[in-house]
Amino acid sequence: MCGIVGYVGDNNAQDFLISGLKRLEYRGYDSAGIVTINDDGKATLIRAKGKISNLEERLARKKRDDKIGIGHTRWATHGEPSEANAHPHRAGKLYLVHNGIIENYKELKEHLKEHEFKSETDSEVLAALINSFYGDGKYPLANAVVQALKLAKGTYGIAVISEDNPNEIVVARSGSPLVIGIGDGATLIASDASALVGHTKRAIYLNDGEVARVTKNSVDIKTLNAEPVSAKVEEIETNLAAIQKGGYEHFLLKEIMEQPESLMETLRGRVNIKDGTVRLGGPGLSEAELRKIKHLIIVGCGTAYHAGLLAAYYIEKFTPEITVEVVIASEYRYRQAYVPEDSVALIVSQSGETADTLACLREIKKQGVKTIGIVNAIGSTIAREVDGGTYVHVGPEISVASTKAFTSQVIAMVMFGLTIAEAKGVRNTIIRPYVEEIFKLPNEIREVLGAYQNTIKMEAKKYAEYEHAIYLGRDTAYPTAMEGALKLKEVSYIDANAYAFGELKHGPLALIDDRFFVMAFLPKGELYEKAVSNTQEVLARGGHVIAVTNEDSFDLPVENVIKITTSMEIFTPILMNLISQLFAYYVTVAKGLNVDQPRNLAKSVTVE
Ligand code: AGP
Ligand code: GLU
Repeated sequence: MCGIVGYVGDNNAQDFLISGLKRLEYRGYDSAGIVTINDDGKATLIRAKGKISNLEERLARKKRDDKIGIGHTRWATHGEPSEANAHPHRAGKLYLVHNGIIENYKELKEHLKEHEFKSETDSEVLAALINSFYGDGKYPLANAVVQALKLAKGTYGIAVISEDNPNEIVVARSGSPLVIGIGDGATLIASDASALVGHTKRAIYLNDGEVARVTKNSVDIKTLNAEPVSAKVEEIETNLAAIQKGGYEHFLLKEIMEQPESLMETLRGRVNIKDGTVRLGGPGLSEAELRKIKHLIIVGCGTAYHAGLLAAYYIEKFTPEITVEVVIASEYRYRQAYVPEDSVALIVSQSGETADTLACLREIKKQGVKTIGIVNAIGSTIAREVDGGTYVHVGPEISVASTKAFTSQVIAMVMFGLTIAEAKGVRNTIIRPYVEEIFKLPNEIREVLGAYQNTIKMEAKKYAEYEHAIYLGRDTAYPTAMEGALKLKEVSYIDANAYAFGELKHGPLALIDDRFFVMAFLPKGELYEKAVSNTQEVLARGGHVIAVTNEDSFDLPVENVIKITTSMEIFTPILMNLISQLFAYYVTVAKGLNVDQPRNLAKSVTVE
């Protein structure tokens, strides 16, 4: 999720490590650290919560001229942001930095009793596991790393060094990137090439399942099965901005396009496709407590609120005996709302710092209601103040417009709802279809993004000059329309508003004229024909309609139709929302606006 750097060579390791971590700052992180080892095998470990500048302040008192070291910027997934949880982690004489999630860290930890754990992280478990094979230097470090990785499940990009041999770094990857820079008299390690720019133009990109032992003048790559891999040296892109956005022009597009991977991180270890069940450990509610729930209050702002609206439709469908109320945090906190017995509040927030949501959480807690966080930023204020919670694990979301967090928030709340349904004895024949579609969703998202990105890019240009837009949907497509309208308005400044299809005739239909275009969502299903009729009402008044549907037979004479091909029936609105995200992005690019930092807005609204 975050950043790794490493250095072994003729010059000062600390210099490269700090400059490299600064290059990775854009990725968002909550703590950082470095360790270097001198020629006598003495390690100097420096870690700090917060900004790299905090680390630099500590470094000033521990300047070393060591020639080998590794460093890390952390985006916490297991264990809140703190110095103790910051990487590098130590086990015996070895030090490790890790990007990713070790899914089976709890089971592994059970067998590592001889290690005195100092952190709550999954990464320290991996360090201890490696050390259990390294035996304090009895065996080659690379072999110990391989043995450990064969037991670890999940994603990793790691770098490991030991006091026994301050001339080698062992690196490995599976699911988190790692690149090896070939320098003059040095070998550099980084989780993305931005840290290497200016130090070398030659790099080897490690592939999943590969392990490399590097020294200042050698790189030896093998697979986990000890098959030699011939290193392919490539020229790295030297455009820093381009690298930092993963090759995309903006963070917004990067975060839209990485949703297959970010949703997979949300699902990791939580979906049992064999049994057709899901398991959310975080909320910390017993079966009996889950069974007792009669009322859900879902609280959020902006996109988080829309995620709650969409999740509520689903939860009501498969758990008929509970009521679900979705509220805007800044409103609900002042209402004198009656809270029924056996209520639970879901507090939804990507940043975990939104002032309105935090204030509402505190009000709700005063009423003695159990609160469950649906949060991305580990250890954030909301995450720390709720009674329990589920992290969505989408990694840092940099662009002000929230995209990957929305998708994962919806699915995390649906999984929480399914957990309640299971506890309440809802038949597996009702639950299983949801679980099966959730399991397939990352791939379906990948298909839709791949199939329609260019189409949307071409079509969006035609709508850049409009000043007004209406987004329309019914049922689960209505929150989708709301989220689509918010996306468009907040990045392109087009005055976009969403209405339930059925509401059109109660007023908004009067708006239709050439100043507006209309984005209509028509998912297959029992309400499809009604949505078709409503769309015809718009066409009859000369509306400029873009239709988004997965109904192949759709044939209204609209200006544009985006026909999504998918086998999905339940979560089609999630796929339709991808179209809205891409559309908002490409309209904004066509308008030449600041895609990632729209005017007047902030990524985390910490004021009320
Ligand atoms: C969404 O694109 C906006 N950035 C905004 O509505 C955001 O969703 C809202 O401020 C809530 O933020 P949070 O999820 O970090 O609490
Ligand atoms: N899962 C590890 C932790 O929580 C690594 C997180 C990261 O990739 O920054 O420390």
